[in-house]
This record gives sequence, C-alpha cells and structure tokens, in this order.
Amino acid sequence: MRIVSGIQTTGNLHLGNYLGAIKNWVAMQDGLADGDEALFFLADLHSLTVAIPAAERAATTIEMAAVLIASGIDPDRSILFNQARVPAHAELSWILQGTARMGWLNRMTQWKDKAGKNREGASVGLFTYPVLQAADILAYQGTHVPVGDDQKQHLELARDIATKFNLDFDVDLFTLPEPYISPAAPRIMSLRDGTAKMSKSDPSEMSRINLADSDETIAQKFRKAKTDPEPLPDDPALLDARPEAKNLVTIFAALDDTSVPQVLAQFAGQGFGAFKPALADLAIAKLSPIRERLTVLMEDRDAVSGALEKGADKARALAAPTLLAAQRATGLQV
Ligand code: TYM
Repeated sequence: MRIVSGIQTTGNLHLGNYLGAIKNWVAMQDGLADGDEALFFLADLHSLTVAIPAAERAATTIEMAAVLIASGIDPDRSILFNQARVPAHAELSWILQGTARMGWLNRMTQWKDKAGKNREGASVGLFTYPVLQAADILAYQGTHVPVGDDQKQHLELARDIATKFNLDFDVDLFTLPEPYISPAAPRIMSLRDGTAKMSKSDPSEMSRINLADSDETIAQKFRKAKTDPEPLPDDPALLDARPEAKNLVTIFAALDDTSVPQVLAQFAGQGFGAFKPALADLAIAKLSPIRERLTVLMEDRDAVSGALEKGADKARALAAPTLLAAQRATGLQV
C-alpha cells in the first residue's frame, strides 16, 4: 500500500481540510503495516496558480507543514515534504502533458469554477493543474489517495492518464490509484451557507473554522453559524432538506468519531441554542491541543524546514525509478 496525498499551500487550513483529509491521513499513517509507505506533501507548485507574494508562499509552506505535524503527521513515520523540493513532480507532469487531452481537462469542474468566465486570462497552470496532481500520485505508484469529495474528479483523471500512458507506450508502468473519501466527512460545508463547500478561498472568515483559530473565535463562529429555527430531528433523513443543520451534525459526528444517527439520538428535540455550545465545546476540545502544538512548532521554523528536507530526500529516492521508467518508455532515456 502506498498512500499519497497533498494539500495546496494557499491560505489557512480549515476544519474541512482536517475532517475531510488530514484526520484520515493520520489514521492511515497510524495503521501502516511493514512495507507500506505514506507520503504527504505541501503542494507549493500547485500554489503557483494563485498570485501570492514569494515570502508569503514560503512562510505558508512551513506553517502548513507545522499544522500537519501538530495534527499528528509524524515525519518519522510518514514521508512529509514539499513538492518543489522533489523535481520528479514537475518532470513527470511534463511527460504526462503529452498524454492528457484538452477535452479531459476542459471538463474539470474545478477549472471551470476557478477560471470562471475569464478563461483567456486564466493561467495555463490552472488548466494543467490536474496533470501535476496526477504526476504527484503516479510518481510514487500511489495506491490509496485520501481526499475530500471535491478531489474525486481529479483522481479519476489521474486514472485516465495512467491508463492511456500504459496503453500508448505499451508498458505496465503506472498503478491505478484509488481515491479514499472519508465516509464521515466527504464534504464539510460553509458555516454561512450549507450548500457551499467550506473553502480557503471563501472571502468570509465566518464561513470556516481555521485550525489556528482561538477558542473564543471557534465558539463565536459556531454561535453565528447559519441554522434554522427547528429542533433537531431523530430521523437522519429529515436533515436532507436542512443543509446547515445537516452540516453541523456531520461536523459533530466526525469530530467525535461517532455517527450522525448517534448524534441525533443524543440531541433530537433540542434546538440550536443547546446544540451549538455543545458543538463548540467539542471542537475546542479537539482543536486546541493541535493549536498548542502548532504554537510550539512555530517557534522553530528551521526545524520544520529540516523535517521537510529529510522527507524530500526519501521522496526523491522513491520517485526516481518511476520517473526513469517513464523516461525510458517515452524514449527520453535509453
Ligand atoms: P486542497 O488543498 O484544496 O484540500 C486539501 C484536502 O482537503 C480536502 N478538503 C475538504 N474535505 C472535506 N470538506 C471540505 N470542505 C474540504 N475542503 C478541502 C480536499 O479534498 C483535499 O483532500 N488539488 C488538491 C491538492 C493536491 C493533491 C495532490 C491531493 C495536489 N496534489 C495529489 C491528492 C493527491 C487540493 O487543492 O486540495
């Protein structure tokens, strides 16, 4: 088993990233058997698709790495690194650009959403973003890719690219990766709108809980979260028409490692006046230890950078044979 996943180094890590991805990364890391590897990386090359000043990009990479470590990613057990330190990602990405088709990339909903109406003005990197993502995974022969629901389409594309490359060059080189989407929290929604994803790029800070938020901020954001006036039902199916209520119950269940029916069994008949403080207390209990570890880690940024360098050494060694095989398959190397 080769677990591979990444996170783009733009903005703050939020509860959606944590419940949809990072919490599962930690669980998968903790369950690794002998011979398995888990690779987690900061997607700083992907962050080039967003205009960010250089100093901020570098600082964000270190801060996000520290959040991952504070959340339980152990650089001695997992291979933790930033993409830019491992040139195989960019090299393989270019090779795979000969395989990916314009039509495939044109269908990517993330491209359509992010480019919007201004396609002529969008960067080429935003368009080819999913090819780099495919290279991230295929360079390591990733078998399991723990991601939120929003990355499913990119994973399908990675499989299509792998299949076409193997076929075009008549090789059995790339393993087809399987997405692993957390059943508990496939898509955490905005606290302001239960039909929009919780996202780093939402202009409203009140829409998301950041992993670095103080206890007071967490409590305030849940207090102000959009809800409806009805009490919580006992039947989970009744939440389907109440997206904000459903989201808060889902967050509670995911944070507490229980299920939506169990949360409803506890809170059915109660309104949000009672549920929101209980949710805020739970979130604070789970997130404040992460924030405290983060504060300590941020006192020594060089140590975090050193951990990334060590991870990059291991990642370079793991990617090298696959990159060479891809170069041989395409006649770039004999
Ligand atoms: P990114 O940085 O947007 O998000 C990182 C991870 O968090 C998940 N996620 C969510 N899960 C549930 N609810 C949400 N509201 C939510 N928001 C984000 C994402 O699904 C993701 O798993 N393109 C990727 C980064 C990437 C990558 C890769 C991932 C680059 N290369 C290779 C996997 C494999 C991205 O932008 O994720």
